[in-house]
Order: sequence, then C-alpha cells, then structure tokens
Amino acid sequence: MSYTVSDPPAPSDRPMHPIGRTHRIPRGNHHARPNAPKFMASVEQLKEQAGIEACRFVTDGMALGLGTGSTVRYSIIEIARMIEQDGINVSGVPTSEGTRELAEKLGIPLIPMEQAGTLDLTIDGADEFDKNFDLIKGGGGALTREKIVALASKSMVVVADQSKQVETLGEFDLPVEVDQMQWQAVHTEISSLCPGPVRLRGGDRDPFVTDNKGVILDCAFGPIISNPLALEAGIRGIPGVVEVGLFVGICDAVVLASPEGVSTLLNPGGRL
Ligand code: 5RP
Repeated sequence: MSYTVSDPPAPSDRPMHPIGRTHRIPRGNHHARPNAPKFMASVEQLKEQAGIEACRFVTDGMALGLGTGSTVRYSIIEIARMIEQDGINVSGVPTSEGTRELAEKLGIPLIPMEQAGTLDLTIDGADEFDKNFDLIKGGGGALTREKIVALASKSMVVVADQSKQVETLGEFDLPVEVDQMQWQAVHTEISSLCPGPVRLRGGDRDPFVTDNKGVILDCAFGPIISNPLALEAGIRGIPGVVEVGLFVGICDAVVLASPEGVSTLLNPGGRL
C-alpha cells in the first residue's frame, strides 16, 4: 500500500485563507523544529508538515479520533503508515463519512462512534484558533461529529497552517448545524445576534446537507467573538440548533506549520 499523497487534496467548500494574516498573537509554549525549511513551502506542504508532526502524539494502543479536512488528512495518511511500517496498533473513530472512507482505504481499524467510549487522542483541523486555544470549526460541515469525538477524547491536537491563527475568533464565518426543518426559524433568531449576514450553506435551492442530514448556517460575526463560551451557549439555546462550530476549552495543542517551520503550541491549561 502506498502512503504518498498522489491524489489531489480533498476539495474544500470554501476559499483558502490567505497566508500572512495581520492578526498575529504571541505564541505560547512552543518548540520550533531545528530543521526549518530553507525554501518557501506551499500551503499544501505546510499542511502536510503539520499533519505528520502531530502524529508524534500518537502511541501504540491508542484509540484515536480522526478529524476531517485537508490538513488532518495528512495525519490520517501518516497514522496508516505508522500502523503498517512501524507496527503500532491503534484504532480510530472517524468524524465524517469522508474520513471514514479515507481511513478504510488506508487500512486503519475503525470503531463505530457508538461503541467507542473514551478515546485517547483526537487530531483534527480548525478554521481558526485564538490565543486561548479556542476554535472555530465546521468549514467542512463535520462540526457535530467532530465535537462529539473531541469531547470523548482525553486530549485534542489541532493541525493548522499559520493562516488559521487569529487574535479574535470570527473572521471565518461561524458554522452552525441546524435541523433541516427548522433552518428558517433559526436563521431569524441568529440574525438578531449576528452583525453580518447569516447564509444557508449551498443556498436554499441546493443546500449543503451534512452527514447527519442537517444543514449549515454560516454566520458572519466578524472578528469580535471575544467570549466564545457565551456565544456558543446562546446559539445552542435556539430550538433547531444541532451544534455550534465553537470549540471552547477542548484543544490542548496546536501543531502549526509556517514557512519558518513546524512548531507545537501547548495550551498551558491543557492536558498534554
Ligand atoms: C471540518 C473542519 C475542518 O477541520 C476545518 O474546516 C479545517 O479544514 P482544513 O484543514 O481543510 O482547512 O472543521 O468540519
């Protein structure tokens, strides 16, 4: 079996973040790799570096949460390589049908979510992270299963390139998964909270439907989400909301790739 990434990157439902945001935050407790690349890496190479580096948290015997997205895809490929070439024995719970298909193709033993119990570690991507290691997720529409799996895990490592690092969450439109029958009522409620447009992903003629048969409202708060816990609670209280793409107090480390190299930011209040 080949573990090289020969097929094209997983399609993204949204435009790529530009590299080199102006919102930079002081980095936390991190360990830069000594062998930083001497050439300018492409975004895809940065994702691959972060995805592979995160697998140093994977050890023999672990039950893993397998995230969704174009960055964690490289972690999943690396985990498959570790199983076959290094002989480690791990199993995974996929957070989406796309991840399940990839993991199956690569021969990673899978456990159904309902049988998983407590997991040792989840590796997943993010659309934004801030200095408190709080996240916006759901750009790929898998936020509900991603949150269930992350909350069932003893630790969570996020893989990202530096475009995901922000001072304040919200420049990326906040994804909210909603019951299909309720989206218009929820849209009205969230619009009263959200300063920018609230859009049904895919539009009302052909909405994007999640693996759970829900739909997604993308909410343009702008970079103002300074109290994500309160906003998460407020939105979750609206009848018809399935899950909110705010992950607060869940992420323990971010493996971050930038043109200077890969660094691991450890959450000082985290579990790793
Ligand atoms: C999917 C997610 C993804 O992890 C997030 O969108 C990041 O994806 P990518 O690594 O492709 O930028 O939350 O629901």
